[in-house]
Amino acid sequence: MNTPLTKEEQEKLLDAAQQARENSYSPYSKFKVGAAVLTADGSIFTGTNIENASYGLTVCAERNAIFAAVGAGKRKVRALALITQKLPGLDFNSPCGACRQVMSEFIAPDAPVYIAVLDGPKRTVYAKQLQELMPFPFDKFSEK
Ligand code: THU
Repeated sequence: MNTPLTKEEQEKLLDAAQQARENSYSPYSKFKVGAAVLTADGSIFTGTNIENASYGLTVCAERNAIFAAVGAGKRKVRALALITQKLPGLDFNSPCGACRQVMSEFIAPDAPVYIAVLDGPKRTVYAKQLQELMPFPFDKFSEK
């Protein structure tokens, strides 16, 4: 069972994701995404989407944030935040399927995933649990 994030922890994580979004390399889609994860020891790791002229090589913000944490030896992720711009007709953008599967490897099913949307200066946050976004992940090994 995960301990819920305090409002302060939540805001700090969202600020970090928003800051990371500024480094987005997205000349092809022009869609900037920022992500941040909070690990069990209280550290924050960030990521942004990095595109490539060979489009399929693009890596999403969420995976870059998770891989930064795991690459630093922090495998227990308590929460993930991501942030995008508001698109017409959509309340928010959900993480892609590939990122949801990667999240399932390191984030507990009941852990929060904060999806934030920037509309000018306004930041709207939708709090989900990973299990809502990824109810049936592929899971080959039970031990991490
Ligand atoms: N993108 C992310 O960074 N995260 C997602 O969950 C979905 C999509 C990026 C990939 C690409 O650079 C741009 O958004 C448009 O698809």
